[in-house]
Amino acid sequence: MSFGSAVKKLIPKSLKRYIKKNMGQTPRQADYIVRESDKERFLGKNIIVTGGTGAIGSAVCARLLAEGATVGICGRNEEKLKAVVEKFEREKIIRGGKCIPIVLDVTDDKSIHDGVAEFISKTGRLDAFVNNAGGGARGDSKPIFEQDIDVIDRVLNTNLRGTIVCAREAAKAMVPNKRGKIINMSSVVGMNGKATMSDYAASKAGILGFTKSIALELGQYGITVNCISPGMVNQIPFDKGSEPRTTNKNCLGRFGYTDEVADLAAYIISDSGNYFTGHNFVIDGGRSLGLMGD
Ligand SMILES: NC(=O)c1ccc[n+]([C@@H]2O[C@H](COP(=O)([O-])OP(=O)(O)OC[C@H]3O[C@@H](n4cnc5c(N)ncnc54)[C@H](OP(=O)(O)O)[C@@H]3O)[C@@H](O)[C@H]2O)c1
Repeated sequence: MSFGSAVKKLIPKSLKRYIKKNMGQTPRQADYIVRESDKERFLGKNIIVTGGTGAIGSAVCARLLAEGATVGICGRNEEKLKAVVEKFEREKIIRGGKCIPIVLDVTDDKSIHDGVAEFISKTGRLDAFVNNAGGGARGDSKPIFEQDIDVIDRVLNTNLRGTIVCAREAAKAMVPNKRGKIINMSSVVGMNGKATMSDYAASKAGILGFTKSIALELGQYGITVNCISPGMVNQIPFDKGSEPRTTNKNCLGRFGYTDEVADLAAYIISDSGNYFTGHNFVIDGGRSLGLMGD
């Protein structure tokens, strides 16, 4: 018996299982790490992020702020906004730009108009808009024959209509400048469907068609429009206890991290992302590739 296999024999099975499960996993990237080459990618750029108080939105804001941007962080709740901005200040991630809290409800057209106008009055220009606010019916998700009309309306109004009206307002601000970037947040559920989440799936599928259409309209004004479709992104209160069941469904065997979605958004907004438009960037650990096993 070789020395190597003798050592292997001494390792308890439980430790072997632990090593097998955990080796090769990508460790969680520390929040807001800025690569030397990226340090000032967004210096002088003014960017609005809706749903900036949430899991993915706050990671996107953090990434952009850490690389120099001025960010209009939007949410419906003033207290929540204040807490996120204070956290960013405490962690000293704002480098070069400002973090401007904006109360904005994407189901309220006036609120969208006023929020964008407030941001432009404070910064002078809108360079990019991340249309991220939204979510599913969560506790209210049901088969369609049982679903309440007001839940369907809420999901469609927030995710689809909200995205459309926000993009309309962003485009109005960008067209005169003849440049800009719009990112719409869709989902693999919009691409593939999901039982008991048909309203959410419909709203996110609508975003895919909307993105392609306005990309065609706005290209001539130097504005690109793209989608991001995350799979299951780690979001502590929502995912508690469901990790093994969910991560079995993608071939990388883990949740995505909010930082990874933020990195993708930053790439699209950066100058590296200038020559694609109308695309859907899927970030799902391979979940939408096909069936895993039986
Ligand atoms: N997490 C995932 O696994 C996943 C996967 C695929 C797609 N997505 C999409 O990614 C986006 C962000 O998801 P998340 O996981 O970060 O969700 P989250 O943590 O629940 O955050 C949702 C954000 O949207 C905001 N929001 C909700 N309704 C709004 C409204 N009517 N007006 C303005 N803001 C509103 C919330 O702000 P306030 O409550 O503070 O107003 C919050 O900031 C969503 O569009 C979601 O569908 C997420």
